[in-house]
Amino acid sequence: MLPSVWRTVLGVTAKDLFQNDRHAPIVIVLAAGRGTRMRSATPKVLHDLCGAPLVDWVVRAARDAGAHRVVVVDQPARHLDGHLADDVDVVEQHPDRHGEGTAGAVAAAVELIDPQRPVVVLAGDVPLVSADAIAALAAAHRGSGAAATLLTTELADPTGYGRVVRDDDGHVTKVVETKEPGDATADELRIREVNTGIYAFDGGRLVDALERVGADNAQNERYLPDVLAILRGDGHAVGAHRSDDADLVRGVNDRVQLGEIRAIAQARIVAAHQRAGVTVVNPASTVIDRDVTIGEDTVIEPGCVLRGTTRIGAGATVGPHTTVIDGALGDGVGAVHSHIVGATAEAGATIGPFSYLRPGAVLREKAKAGAFVEIKNSEIGPGSKVPHLSYIGDADVGPGTNLGAATITANYDGRDKHRTTIGAGVRTGVDTTLVAPVTVGDGAYTGAGSVITEDVPADALGIARNKQRNLEGYAQLVEQRRSGT
Ligand code: UD1
Ligand code: MG
Repeated sequence: MLPSVWRTVLGVTAKDLFQNDRHAPIVIVLAAGRGTRMRSATPKVLHDLCGAPLVDWVVRAARDAGAHRVVVVDQPARHLDGHLADDVDVVEQHPDRHGEGTAGAVAAAVELIDPQRPVVVLAGDVPLVSADAIAALAAAHRGSGAAATLLTTELADPTGYGRVVRDDDGHVTKVVETKEPGDATADELRIREVNTGIYAFDGGRLVDALERVGADNAQNERYLPDVLAILRGDGHAVGAHRSDDADLVRGVNDRVQLGEIRAIAQARIVAAHQRAGVTVVNPASTVIDRDVTIGEDTVIEPGCVLRGTTRIGAGATVGPHTTVIDGALGDGVGAVHSHIVGATAEAGATIGPFSYLRPGAVLREKAKAGAFVEIKNSEIGPGSKVPHLSYIGDADVGPGTNLGAATITANYDGRDKHRTTIGAGVRTGVDTTLVAPVTVGDGAYTGAGSVITEDVPADALGIARNKQRNLEGYAQLVEQRRSGT
């Protein structure tokens, strides 16, 4: 998106501005680096950041900024494409053909560059880049007529970053790397303005300059920033767009940095919900993934973990200590000390303490899953209650039904799963076992301790247990045996 001031002035989003517009940039996301410092079998850019792979954050920002096309540069045969949206193009950087280094990575995407369009280059391991920053860079580039515009920021400690060298008029002349002693002069090392690794280029000029980037440096890599000096040498203007947001440049090279970036991303996610009317009682103990949605006046108590595509309505109370993964909780739902995965609870439902709702569990309006209750692949009808110590699997429960404590569906015969059907207004006695497939009709009862193997008709009592008999005088009998009298 555009910075908010632009949005208010223009009344448009960046998407509106760039969509089907010849100025909408092609965005190239560089993601072919080795990432060895992660010490991981997983490619660096696929490590999770608040519910999405690092590279997906960058792709999302590019899309939200109104990219015409997003191209991700991958290593050969690594197949990031399986983890990316279908509308993302993936190209492979072959070191023998394109060379090593950031210029080699862009060269791998050259076939997809339209000389008539701007190109924006982003790094796949710099996930906090925002759509606003990309759109602002693209807009600044478009307005300036420069062949390239570099996004820069000033860092208190610029160690390791490329430094932005300007001439006496303040124009960018080049970027110097600082990886090895001798890369930069003492004066250059004092510069605190750094290259963020984010650029906008004129497509045609980029392709032309790219061919002339050599690998004459300490790393024997083809450096993308060398394009800037080449363009300057050709007499073109090179601009710089400075950002105040130093987090923009934060890259993930190891898991310490991943942790630091996660803390920033998490704080931003929580703050966005707070601004949108959600009370988060203790942000420090709360985990909320990027794509979770929460309605106004919902309270997130301490110790909650809300992951994936979880959706929570308005006026709900979640926690303390509740995990929801890809779940949907409606307005006014209360869920306390519970674990909810792929389950749905409609408005006014209550969950917990200590419920386990598994995939396909659906609590209809005002239904209840209580203490030590596990429900999977089952519908619990409106207002129905499963209050204590039950396992309900593969069952359909009608409205207004109460399942007594420790009602269990025996849904698995050792080979196959079978369904249990329980009607409306049913009352099962405590410790009822329902051996599926079986049906309990509307308004029916089951006796406490019954093992129900046959259908119970509507309004009947199904009772299936041994009749009780009492042995009178049993205690005296035991006493006599012990004393031998
Ligand atoms: C780069 C810049 C530096 C800038 C810094 C900002 C160069 C030469 N230097 O340095 O000026 O301050 O970013 O973070 O560009 N990649 C490939 N293929 C490769 C090499 C890298 O796709 O052959 C990708 C990486 O996966 C990464 C990005 O390019 O996403 C940047 O590469 P990296 O090696 O991290 O460059 P820096 O040393 O950080
Ligand atoms: Mg880097």
